[in-house]
Amino acid sequence: MKNFLFSKVGNLELANPVMIASGVCGFAEENLSVLNRLGAVVFKTVTLQPTKGNPTPRVTDFSYGMLNSIGLENPGVDGIKSKLGHIKKLKCKKIASFLGNNEQEFVTIVEKLQEYKVFDGYELNLSCPNVAKGEWFYDIYKLKKLLVRIRKIVSKPLIAKLSPETDVVKISSLCKTLGYDGVTLTNTYTGIAVDYKNLTFKLGNIYGGFSGPAIKPLVQRWVYEVAKKVKIDIIGCGGIISGEDAIEYFLLGAKAVQIGSGYFRNPQLPVECVEFIRKYLQEKKVNLQQIVGLLTK
Ligand SMILES: Cc1cc2nc3c(=O)[nH]c(=O)nc-3n(C[C@H](O)[C@H](O)[C@H](O)COP(=O)(O)O)c2cc1C
Repeated sequence: MKNFLFSKVGNLELANPVMIASGVCGFAEENLSVLNRLGAVVFKTVTLQPTKGNPTPRVTDFSYGMLNSIGLENPGVDGIKSKLGHIKKLKCKKIASFLGNNEQEFVTIVEKLQEYKVFDGYELNLSCPNVAKGEWFYDIYKLKKLLVRIRKIVSKPLIAKLSPETDVVKISSLCKTLGYDGVTLTNTYTGIAVDYKNLTFKLGNIYGGFSGPAIKPLVQRWVYEVAKKVKIDIIGCGGIISGEDAIEYFLLGAKAVQIGSGYFRNPQLPVECVEFIRKYLQEKKVNLQQIVGLLTK
């Protein structure tokens, strides 16, 4: 029962199945007592050039979730060089997330990221709802060309992160065929929030990405369908605020989970999830692999 929390997403080996999702943890995050006890951290998506992000306000909270329009604010792929020392020291697996405005930009970014030699894997962001230029992801032919090219370049584990507003099963199947290690399901849903008192919108960008507890059943539907129809490893991501939520994702077929907005509400949440999963498996006298996909076999 020694390694009963161990999980493997393609060739990405994880000491435990809990990860932090992209965008909620800084490149120089100091919360080491939490990060070092996780399977992996996915860093904020990097773009080729530094990106300022969207106009403020950029975040609005609900009891059932949050809407953000950060818009990929990041220092650019060269700008993270100064953070590499910190990233290197982390004991968990370190995953870089990246997004380009076109195929060539994706290639340039990931080549630079690989030169840094600190990342254990890469998450191809096919899904940011806050970047208008990302619309070409919805063209399956362009997408396939991109996926083929990036897979050829990246030797380490490569995950694709999908938008829930695309044909998730079809794209997951394409990723499987092209040798991707796994898919992260999913990013946020596009939403808007109205400020009825001031007769305006709550976000400066009008549109934002909706995340948190309310999206869990919607994302779980995708995990269920992909697990049933495509034999690709899945990382479940959407609405996790407790260890119970994580277990649900495993039962549906996810081999790991990512925690996004739940980390803002409770920075201890990821380790609380690890401990919950540990206890659950110990009580049931099974290892993680024995519960993955129990509801989708
Ligand atoms: C403030 C914020 C910023 C985010 N930035 C990114 C990002 O840079 N790249 C990305 O792939 N996903 C980003 N996401 C999406 C999360 O990684 C995650 O997919 C989504 O929030 C759903 O998970 P959750 O319900 O646990 O929050 C962001 C989410 C939030 C709340």
